[in-house]
Amino acid sequence: MSFVHRVCENEAAPTIVFVHGFPLDHSMWQGQLPLAQQASLLMPDLSGFGQSDPCAEGVTMRSFADDIAELLDKLDISRAVYCGLSMGGYIGWEFVKHHSEKLIGLVCCNTRAAADDEMTARARRFAATQVLKTGAEPVAAAMKEKLFSSATRSENPGLVARLCEVMATTDPRSIAAAQLAMSQRSDFLSDVAEIELPTLVVAGEHDPITVSNEMQELSMLIGESTFVEIAESGHLSPAEQPGVFNSALTHWLSRVA
Ligand code: MLT
Repeated sequence: MSFVHRVCENEAAPTIVFVHGFPLDHSMWQGQLPLAQQASLLMPDLSGFGQSDPCAEGVTMRSFADDIAELLDKLDISRAVYCGLSMGGYIGWEFVKHHSEKLIGLVCCNTRAAADDEMTARARRFAATQVLKTGAEPVAAAMKEKLFSSATRSENPGLVARLCEVMATTDPRSIAAAQLAMSQRSDFLSDVAEIELPTLVVAGEHDPITVSNEMQELSMLIGESTFVEIAESGHLSPAEQPGVFNSALTHWLSRVA
C-alpha cells in the first residue's frame, strides 16, 4: 500500500480508517468526507488499487490487514475505528484477529464473516483467469448491475459512472489477485461471537450480494453490536446514501469514542 487520503482537522478526534471494497479504491468514501468534523479520516488504497503500487501476486486478506496496521504505525496512530465495506470487511476480520490492540471500534458495511463455499471459490478462480484475458471493463460492467440499487442508478448516475470508471481502470492483475485472495479467505463466522469491540453493522435494503437479513444475523452474533439497515441502498450503502450512513456512524461514534 502506498497511497492514503488523509483528512485530519482535529488531532484530538478519533481516527476512522475506511477500507474500500472490490474492485474499487478510496474514492468510494467521498461521501464520508463531511465526517472530518467529527473524526480524522484515513482512506487508503489497498495494494494494487487506485493510486497504490501494483498488487503483488499472493496478497491475502491478512496481508492487506497487516498493511493497514503498518500504515497506522507509520502515522503514529495508536488506536482507530476500522470501517470496511465488503472485501474491506473481510480484511477487517483479520485486522481484529491480529491487531485488535489498535482498535476502539469496528464498522462492518455490506459484508459477511463466512468464507466462500466451493462453488463461489471456483467462480472466483475462473474470474481471475478471465480478467487477465478480457481486461477490467467487463468486470466493471458486471459489477455495475450488482453494486447499486435501482434508486441509485436512476437518481445518481454521476456516482454510478464515477465508480464504474474506477473499476474499469483497475489493473486486471490486481483484480485477479484480489479474487484469488477472497476465494482463499478464512471463515470467521464462529469467531465473531468473541469480538468485544463496539461494532456497527450496516446493511443495504436492496443489497443482492450481502443481503440485509444475513447481516442482521451477523450483528446478533456480535456482543456489543448495533445494526442499521440503509433504505434505498444496494451494496455500496455509504456511497449511495451518504447522509443516512454518516448520521448512523456519527451517532454510534458518539457512544463509543
Ligand atoms: C466487494 O464489494 O468488495 C465484493 O462484492 C466482495 C466480494 O466479491 O465478495
